[in-house]
Amino acid sequence: MRKVCIAGNWKMNMTPSEGKAFAASLAESVGDVTGNVSVVVAPPFITIPSVVEQVKNSNIKVAAQNMSDKESGAFTGEVSADMLLDAGVSIVILGHSERRALYKEDDAFINRKVLLALEKGLDVILCVGETLEERENGQLETVLKRQVTEGLKDVSPNDMSRVIIAYEPVWAIGTGKTATGDDANSAHAFIRGVVAEMLNEGVANSVIIQYGGSVKPSNVKSLMAMEHIDGALVGGASLSVENFAPIVRYND
Ligand code: 13P
Repeated sequence: MRKVCIAGNWKMNMTPSEGKAFAASLAESVGDVTGNVSVVVAPPFITIPSVVEQVKNSNIKVAAQNMSDKESGAFTGEVSADMLLDAGVSIVILGHSERRALYKEDDAFINRKVLLALEKGLDVILCVGETLEERENGQLETVLKRQVTEGLKDVSPNDMSRVIIAYEPVWAIGTGKTATGDDANSAHAFIRGVVAEMLNEGVANSVIIQYGGSVKPSNVKSLMAMEHIDGALVGGASLSVENFAPIVRYND
């Protein structure tokens, strides 16, 4: 059975003091979750230290929302993998559609970060997903195949155990529109097939593929019931314990 990962991407929300209070209450509410489900939160960079401090005695892991493709040096405003590791981060989200669209990150750039993160010892959540226009033009599979093969280029089968893929259809992010369980499941199955082609069946069968896009307490159970959906990457609903806790405990 594949593992499950439920992650909250806070995006540009939560100051350090807000994040500290929120993480303390999250640790009380879902910090004891064990077994097959792992729980991750991804605060903004500056909020990371206060969150790490609050969740250190819980099972909640802390992720970053991005990192530099460079190791260190004259790159004003950037944050390196070593800095994240030193701050207690164990995972990094890369290739989020907001970074692809707003900051023009392309697959080759994202791939450099993926390889550097893995080399440094960070786990990776690689986000992929089509826009509405791409879906309507019948380009769903072309786009997913390109994002997966180029984003994961040169990742070894061994390192794939530290990679999660998040399928986030852009049209479902922050819109209240969720892909149907069947639509999401078939995209996930397609992604798994691409991984099998690139690497092997064993890797494809064990890679965690999260769904992201308007996940909430009311739809998480039906999404998680699908064969190829192994978790969720949650935006808006990860910003309140009232919403995030039942998503984490979808199976209770
Ligand atoms: P929403 O859950 O707000 O749609 O955001 C999804 C997302 O982008 C998570 O990375």
